[in-house]
Amino acid sequence: MGPTAGARELGTPVFLLNLKSYLPALGNGALTIGRRLQHAGRRFGVATAIAPSAASLETLSRALSIPVLAQHVDPFDPGARTGFLVPASLSATGVAGSLLNHSERRLPPPQVREAVNMLRASGLVSVVCAGSLAEATRLARYCRPEFLAVEPPELIGGNISVSVARPEVIQGTVRGVRRVSPRTQVLCGAGVKTGEDVRRALELGAKGILVSSAVAAAQDPARAIAELMHGFKS
Ligand code: G3P
Repeated sequence: MGPTAGARELGTPVFLLNLKSYLPALGNGALTIGRRLQHAGRRFGVATAIAPSAASLETLSRALSIPVLAQHVDPFDPGARTGFLVPASLSATGVAGSLLNHSERRLPPPQVREAVNMLRASGLVSVVCAGSLAEATRLARYCRPEFLAVEPPELIGGNISVSVARPEVIQGTVRGVRRVSPRTQVLCGAGVKTGEDVRRALELGAKGILVSSAVAAAQDPARAIAELMHGFKS
């Protein structure tokens, strides 16, 4: 898979942008940032993907040609489930897959596994998040997702990148996950703010980054995206 992978396929190394619920990244803001990310990915030749809030999923998946992911799904079949986001609703709108078990939206491990299986059955991709090397290895073995993103929670939203502060977490996760689930590709996130943070993450064996506040809360998202893009090219 490369930067030209289709709208439902994540290429690697990937720049995966989680918009969370940051105010500048809601509504039209999500679309504007998505377009900037798509444009920059083409310009730099880097695979990109975006995870907007649930309210923007359909709009972005229709407007963009890069993969659009949910930030969370509930592993249930369609039916009487008020307020849930079920996997079937994603495939119906061209969404490529979902983040799962983000540290801001945790799920019990059996539900993570169920969600991975349900997404896979619909041809959708799973990016399972873990807060530590131990959890990453455990979930990779138990769920065998396409992607595993390791993000120490204490570094999320800060200015010190996991690739600088805890390089051993990335290296250990890459090794541990490869042992238990060779199909799973490791991403890393938490505090990623600069091209140098990205470069180090890739050097440590990550197949991409999961990033949020550097772009979604930035005054100038286009500039923030370009800064991170340089790390993929150096
Ligand atoms: O999902 C991405 C994430 O939790 C990292 O957030 O703001 O540290 O890039 P941030």
